[in-house]
Amino acid sequence: MKSRIEKLEKLSRQLEPVRREREMLQRLALNYSNQFLDEQAAAPAYTPYEKEMVNALLDDDIPEEGVPPEDVVKIFGDNVVPPGLNLTSGRHFGYIPGGGLSSSAVGDYLAAVTNRYAGVYSSSPGAVALETRMVNWLAELFGYPKTSGGYLASGGSHANLTAIVTARDSKQLKAVDFPKAVVYLTAQTHHCVARALNIAGLAECKRHYIEMDDQFRMVSEKLNEAISGDLNRGFIPWLVVASAGSTDAGAIDPIADIAKVADAHKIWFHVDAAYGGFFMLTESGKRLLEGIEKSDSLVVDPHKGLFLPYGSGALLIKDSKKLAYTHRFEASYMNDTRVEAGMYSPAEISPELSKHFRAVRMWLPLKIHGVSAFRAALDEKLLLAGYLWEKLNEMDQIETGPKPQLSVVMFRWNPDEDESVNDRLNKKLHQLLLEDGRVFLSTTQIEGRFYFRAAILSARTHLGETDTLLSVLKEKAEELKKNLKYGARSYSNPS
Ligand SMILES: Cc1ncc(COP(=O)(O)O)c(C=O)c1O
Repeated sequence: MKSRIEKLEKLSRQLEPVRREREMLQRLALNYSNQFLDEQAAAPAYTPYEKEMVNALLDDDIPEEGVPPEDVVKIFGDNVVPPGLNLTSGRHFGYIPGGGLSSSAVGDYLAAVTNRYAGVYSSSPGAVALETRMVNWLAELFGYPKTSGGYLASGGSHANLTAIVTARDSKQLKAVDFPKAVVYLTAQTHHCVARALNIAGLAECKRHYIEMDDQFRMVSEKLNEAISGDLNRGFIPWLVVASAGSTDAGAIDPIADIAKVADAHKIWFHVDAAYGGFFMLTESGKRLLEGIEKSDSLVVDPHKGLFLPYGSGALLIKDSKKLAYTHRFEASYMNDTRVEAGMYSPAEISPELSKHFRAVRMWLPLKIHGVSAFRAALDEKLLLAGYLWEKLNEMDQIETGPKPQLSVVMFRWNPDEDESVNDRLNKKLHQLLLEDGRVFLSTTQIEGRFYFRAAILSARTHLGETDTLLSVLKEKAEELKKNLKYGARSYSNPS
């Protein structure tokens, strides 16, 4: 048996390369990363792709014997990374960008190498303390008290789900109550909230959509009326979700007013600040988010406003005991881990147990760049959005949405009098922009009308990138007009 073990050890030790081999692989990865980052200033924001070529990865051979690392990094660089949206580009204006700081990637590397067990204090007290420090820093930023708590999640969808489940338990809703339970939100609320309700077993729960003003913000008086009306009809109002930066329009609901209504009716007040939350670091953001400290829970995404790589969300709950109650568990093999730590372990207050050592990707950039660099970048993005909105207003045939409250600018191109023709032309223009690839914009429908959205939140978006967006937009609209013989109305059915 011993000789067999020794034989296997020889083979299994391939998994622990010696320093020279490690350095070779690290050098390969570093060379690739630095080349990739150096190219970003000129790299496309979007690369059109053939599905068949991308899906060939499904047949990628997983070899019985290892292959040279150069070959593997080449597949990654040639086939995996290029197709589709380049989320690292400063000319990525779609959805909600962030960019991904290279310093954060180094944090991830250190986290993975040391592989600390970030879920449990007794195993990795340093890792848990670091995550708790990040959560406490967020709590201080948003004016939450010392009794608050939370954890670093994979993103806003995950964090919103946990907030909803905690609110459900805190309000002691039982399955029998669900058909009468009511959640208040708006048509601008991110879809992950409705999905979280479904996942949380609350699919039957009534969703009461509250009217918005002309800037897509919830009207708090209407919320009050809706709650009173529902109470009179025997329903159970239990949760209101405000957006602090809606994805479509960047709208911020009147947080302080909603807090008063929620408090008066004793319903849970949750703020989805996944996109807008980090603007709290700026003076104007602080004013816009006034009252956020009155919420019972909030979600903020470091992979948006702190420019971290994807996979970084955060949940804060004002009363951390509620989070612990929802995530309570019994497991004999975990009894040794119950130590008096002076802080919760993430495994006690979140759905994860063996958890990614996520704090390092946030802590390292905050430490080495300092908060002032993030504040400046966020102020810059707010100003860039105002600049873009003004420039778009100066352009012929461009209709802009409301003046941006944060950093999302909505607009559409109206070269014709016929709305449906314009809708089709805007879609065609979007297609041309995708084929060109210098800039990436995503689109949305507001009350049935097509809009482009330019979301400015990549760390790499500056004045130059914003000007490129404007010039590419002009160029492609002109090209489309020419191709469609604009003026002769021959574009009325573009295909
Ligand atoms: C306002 C808002 N909430 C929630 C989410 C979902 O967050 P994630 O993509 O991190 O799951 C997003 C994503 O863009 C968002 O903008």
